Amino acid sequence: MGKTSVEYCQGFTLVTSVRSKNGKHLLTVENEQAVQFFESEEDKCWILTTHRTAYVLGLAANGRLQHRYWGERLPYPSDYPGMGKFKASHMLDDRMLSSDEYPAWGGFLYTEPCLKVTFADGVRNVVLVYSHQRQESGPEGLPVLVITLRDTYYPVEVDLHYKVVPQYDLIQRWAVIRNTGQTWLDLEAVLSAAWQLPTLHEGFYRLTHLSGRWNSETQVRRTVLSDGRKTLESRRGLTSAEANPFFAIDIQSPNGTGASEEAGQVWFGALGWSGNWKITVDHVSDPVRAYVAGGINDFDFRWRLKPGEKFVTPPFIGGYTAQGFGQASRNLHMYQLDYLLPRSHAQQLRQVLYNSWEAVFFDVTEEKQLQLVERAAQLGVELFVIDDGWFGQRHHDRAGLGDWYVNPEKFPRGLDPLIARVHERGMNFGIWAEPEMVNPDSDLYRAHPDWVYNFPHRSRSERRNQLMLNLAQPEVAAHIYTWLDNFLSEHRIDFIKWDFNRPISEPGWPDAPVEHHREVYVRHVQAFYDIVERLRSRHPTVVWEVCAGGGGRADLGALARFDQCWVSDNTDPFDRLKIQEGYSLAYAPKSMMAWVSNSPTSQHINNEALRLRYRFHSAMTGSLGLGEDLSKYTEEQMAEAAALVAEYKIIRHIVQEGLLYRLISPRASDLAAVQYVSRDQRESVVFVFLHAQHYWRAAPCIYPRGLDPTRHYHIEGSRDAATPMSGQSLMNVGLQPHLEGHFGSALIKLKMVDEQG
Ligand code: DGJ
Repeated sequence: MGKTSVEYCQGFTLVTSVRSKNGKHLLTVENEQAVQFFESEEDKCWILTTHRTAYVLGLAANGRLQHRYWGERLPYPSDYPGMGKFKASHMLDDRMLSSDEYPAWGGFLYTEPCLKVTFADGVRNVVLVYSHQRQESGPEGLPVLVITLRDTYYPVEVDLHYKVVPQYDLIQRWAVIRNTGQTWLDLEAVLSAAWQLPTLHEGFYRLTHLSGRWNSETQVRRTVLSDGRKTLESRRGLTSAEANPFFAIDIQSPNGTGASEEAGQVWFGALGWSGNWKITVDHVSDPVRAYVAGGINDFDFRWRLKPGEKFVTPPFIGGYTAQGFGQASRNLHMYQLDYLLPRSHAQQLRQVLYNSWEAVFFDVTEEKQLQLVERAAQLGVELFVIDDGWFGQRHHDRAGLGDWYVNPEKFPRGLDPLIARVHERGMNFGIWAEPEMVNPDSDLYRAHPDWVYNFPHRSRSERRNQLMLNLAQPEVAAHIYTWLDNFLSEHRIDFIKWDFNRPISEPGWPDAPVEHHREVYVRHVQAFYDIVERLRSRHPTVVWEVCAGGGGRADLGALARFDQCWVSDNTDPFDRLKIQEGYSLAYAPKSMMAWVSNSPTSQHINNEALRLRYRFHSAMTGSLGLGEDLSKYTEEQMAEAAALVAEYKIIRHIVQEGLLYRLISPRASDLAAVQYVSRDQRESVVFVFLHAQHYWRAAPCIYPRGLDPTRHYHIEGSRDAATPMSGQSLMNVGLQPHLEGHFGSALIKLKMVDEQG
């Protein structure tokens, strides 16, 4: 572009003209917002700016949309590759890895394509070039850039969407594929977005991701990438406990250090999809580059797009920070609180919940539930939830799923007297359902054996004695919607826990035309979302919890439709620290349901009886619930539990809506600490957990973060301070928690001293 003379003001919100030395007009500035569009005779370029980052796109000489930059925001537009001293074509080397912003399969593309199409004439090659652009404002008032690409010959267009979230340094991307022709085309891969990382001159890319299994979801994993492709994915028909759709990449220096919690560059992203998904990282050398692509999994997928139809991908939100993994998480959390979680309840604090599952399992009776109601009310519980076992012939997990009538032996008077009692005791009432499933031993299955996924001549594999309903069939989806709508209309229900307890198998849909068979994975999730969205708008006061045999549906797609998430069936408070740490990497603590439950756990996960206080502290780091058989509590335990519930209510706004700092990872040593700071920095709480105490060693100091260095804070719950300390001193001198013995815990509260105080 040559040397430019530019009129800017610092922070580049004002750019009036860009001229070369000889005065030739090079750029026209279209707007001065978070999305800036520059157009010259030679080039078109977009700079998406957030408070601290920039994301730059431009056109290559052949009309292809190129990625140019993603990282720290620079002072002048001409600082970005392709805008000033670097020519666009020098920016990324295409030898091994395409620098296309949305690579479509065709030509010499050998890395992961975002789009793969078969046209009706059998051609399997897409060549996308720039067509036009527009800018709009999203429903939340956030700026959205839409760049339309078109194939050079075939009638297919792709709208790439970029929603910019300036204050949290995030960009939400998705794509819309439109068939503008007169005949069908088949989509064989259609990802949401590709994220290009900068070329590395030394060091290694390091990938952080979340994986696990039932009972040990969202475990943090970290690996250095070498050449080839790393795939994180689910093919199970749900998000899955085995892998979670989140990635973070930092750079490990040759001496082995990388980004930390509070420092270092991190590029990260999370996908909003609750079905089959994949995130791949292609890594090449010479030069060393990495490229992340993600969206709906193309495994066993095909989508017939008829003339005039469009396919909308799920959103993939990405961000960059130079402040480490902690800031990456805080940006994602704040985005979820301010924009993503369903707006109807986003501003409300999550209620302290009691769930009777671990107390009674399937042995649900009105009498026992009434006993639990009284005990829960005495403890200050605000939401009483009956879990599985209240309906049909559900005496165990071998029968009843699909028959959503109140079991008359368990509730001879129906549900309403119990619901009324719960309300009389000042609590809300919630109930469990698993609407997408059926037991073969159920009236529903006997009446509609063709409503489940199946392949003719193959057995129907059961997991937990259940089969999965085919929600791609409109009558099945309508049946689920109708029973839930009636149920919510007939009873005063305030809360639904929506469960999903098996992965998909034999994903057949024999009655559908064969060209639609591989659409089931996507159609299922679309129908699931549609049912929940319609029920939410019909019953706006109901609060919804997503669950899939624990944390199998923890993702941004679910959290856009559910107010909270059941993170794991593992309620062991020590194991939970690691599960919750991993969850917090991507998801807001407000959405993270954590119960205090039996110790040793009733599911015999760990054989340790831990202190009530420790169990509460572990659960108080998210949205607190209780799951024990409260009728077994002694009077002392009742009093202690009531006091801890009351304490949680005092601090929960800080935990649920504050900024999270992972001070010491439970993976690192015998100690773990996590801190929450209110957004105005006036209040903070620090939870500290000591897993094992050796040699009477005093617990080490904890160094809080995120405080106002210039203000003083009252300290409660630590060995030190009877007198307030400044934020600066707290963050540098530290605090000494009261911790004694194995599985000790402490809760330290910090409160800013009023100026006059
Ligand atoms: C799995 C869930 O994760 C549990 O909390 C419980 O609801 C059971 N399902 C009930 O079957």
